[in-house]
Amino acid sequence: MNEQSKRVQAMFSRITRRYDLMNRVMTGGRDQAWRRIAARELALKGNELILDLATGTGDLAFAVRAAYPGARVVAMDFSETILREGVRKARLRGEPNIVWGVGDALALPFADATFDGCTNAFLIRNVVDLPLCLREMRRVVKPGGRIVCMEITHPQTPIFKQAFALYFYKLVPIIGGIIAGDPQAYSYLPNSLTRFPPAEPLKRIMQEAGYRNVRYRLLGMGTMAIHIGEA
Ligand SMILES: C[S@@+](CC[C@H](N)C(=O)[O-])C[C@H]1O[C@@H](n2cnc3c(N)ncnc32)[C@H](O)[C@@H]1O
Repeated sequence: MNEQSKRVQAMFSRITRRYDLMNRVMTGGRDQAWRRIAARELALKGNELILDLATGTGDLAFAVRAAYPGARVVAMDFSETILREGVRKARLRGEPNIVWGVGDALALPFADATFDGCTNAFLIRNVVDLPLCLREMRRVVKPGGRIVCMEITHPQTPIFKQAFALYFYKLVPIIGGIIAGDPQAYSYLPNSLTRFPPAEPLKRIMQEAGYRNVRYRLLGMGTMAIHIGEA
């Protein structure tokens, strides 16, 4: 793992305690609804096996299980600290059908075509090699299975763009300082979006990585994108 990946890993370990609360506050309570929408995009039928990558505290893994009671989920993250919080939440919920594991999205410890689908929320903006990450997810999913990527995106409406920039670049680091006690982590968040491709170019990058039938939907007044492609 390179130095940048290690910094990201350490940062998520540091903010674990207030991570869920910060998500609720920053999104005005919308993030769980977006995860439910992302989960439904898997369009599963029965007892499929799903990989939720960069699962963090597990909220998207829980959303997949809630949407498909027959599904089994492998929830993976490269921060053991944040993963432990997911395990704790699963125990409180009495959730037996999620298996938790530590692993790097850039070198997945699975054979080709292991899973029926893959989800991830707020992963692909954080990886040091986006095409490699996309190829790895496609590799471990069976042909025709869906990969659903939920990520913050660049709003396109001019006036809203300015309001969002003010909120995201100026206010979020202050809120992160107050709630999570870590203004640095919540300055990283907007800066990571600056480097990240907008929704339409991201669709092309997915196609170049071999994904089929790629499409996306925008949520949260254009601040959130869910990209869906097939392996
Ligand atoms: C913003 S959190 C998202 C957590 C969760 N998916 C959610 O919906 O809240 C990003 C997560 O990605 C993980 N992560 C970042 N890069 C990763 C990588 N290369 N491999 C595995 N996990 C990674 C971090 O440890 C962190 O838990």
